[in-house]
Amino acid sequence: MNPATPPTVSPVGSHVTKSEAETEQLAAAFARILNPGSWVGLIGALGSGKSVFARAVGRAWGVEVAMPSPTYTLMNCLAGRCPIYHMDLYRIESADELDFAGLTPYFSSSGICLVEWAEKAHSLWPAMGWTVTFDQLDENSRRIEIASLRESH
Ligand SMILES: Nc1ncnc2c1ncn2[C@@H]1O[C@H](COP(=O)(O)OP(=O)(O)OP(=O)(O)O)[C@@H](O)[C@H]1O
Ligand SMILES: [Mg+2]
Repeated sequence: MNPATPPTVSPVGSHVTKSEAETEQLAAAFARILNPGSWVGLIGALGSGKSVFARAVGRAWGVEVAMPSPTYTLMNCLAGRCPIYHMDLYRIESADELDFAGLTPYFSSSGICLVEWAEKAHSLWPAMGWTVTFDQLDENSRRIEIASLRESH
């Protein structure tokens, strides 16, 4: 092993971060296990850290511009080492609306799909991918659980 390579710790499992910066570090470690075509559902209450995490994944994949909130546009497409599709389904009521908006194909595209409020379109989740679930413990602490969809099927 190259001694300059730090040991790789799998980001899959449960973590507690104590600051936004720690969440960004966890997201950067998680980004390394993604590939073009990966789907990631980000689940948790308002202000729990989904966008902080999504932006750090985008940056790790080479997005150099700011990643504005997709709350009103539903999806922003960003250029990184592969296309990064950043979605926020907060405003949709059902999976049908995602279909109606023409966004369903992005769930199985060759880019990386990062979906905030993914539970709103649960019936459209792909068979493979990741869920990242956020719990706000206190003002600056979050429990972040990273799981593979395959293990929950
Ligand atoms: N440990 C932490 N990890 C992530 N964010 C934290 C942490 N501690 C405090 N914060 C703050 O919590 C907020 C998280 O905001 P963020 O926009 O990521 O939430 P969100 O889950 O995307 O909410 P929404 O559902 O409104 O999109 C930020 O203001 C961030 O600075
Ligand atoms: Mg958000």
